Amino acid sequence: MKTIVILISGRGSNLLAILEARLPLTVAAVISNEPQAGGLATAKQHGIPTRVVDHRLHRERSTFDEALSAEIDVFKPDLVVLAGFMRILSAAFVGRYRGRLINIHPSLLPAFTGLHTHRRALAAGVKLHGCTVHFVTPELDHGPIVIQAAVPVMEGDSEQSLAARVLAEEHRVYPQAVRWFCEDRLNITPQGLVTLKAAQAASGALVSPPRDS
Ligand code: GAR
Repeated sequence: MKTIVILISGRGSNLLAILEARLPLTVAAVISNEPQAGGLATAKQHGIPTRVVDHRLHRERSTFDEALSAEIDVFKPDLVVLAGFMRILSAAFVGRYRGRLINIHPSLLPAFTGLHTHRRALAAGVKLHGCTVHFVTPELDHGPIVIQAAVPVMEGDSEQSLAARVLAEEHRVYPQAVRWFCEDRLNITPQGLVTLKAAQAASGALVSPPRDS
């Protein structure tokens, strides 16, 4: 059985979704850079060891990253899962976990990298928005894409209503991606694309606004 470590910074709803999916893996630890992160309580309630590596105690990004990887490596994880982890990671850190570090981002990458994705999607007038699980590479919010979910943007949506619609899909696709990794079904091609062993073909189309019938 594979072992994973989950990194969080906040509320931890994706962490909870992964825990509630009861995947065939061991969550060895939940590590937060924020001592007050709500997800730490969630982890404790599930009997999972927690650690805090407070970025404020480090003047340099490199020493924070070293302290973080020292905590991670104690648990010898097969996979490191960023679940709302809001620190930019150095190339050295990313390189250390190459091919075994994944992230969820609240947009259909490569659109809307960075922050405030829902606000920016509304401002751009896109009709479809969503979320992406990807392997992490040194470039922020880039890297081989594992799975995406798209949702319609509705007229009258606020940043909050759109975020909630996307978040519900995050909670579906992130456990799925973690499961695939732990089943050894993900492969990264030399071109940097993800292939899925025994994948089922997607079908149909999400059209927004819907076509007139
Ligand atoms: C999620 O929406 C996640 O996609 C986003 O932070 C939120 C964390 O929520 N991550 C990023 O923006 C990373 N660039 P959670 O703590 O409830 O899982």
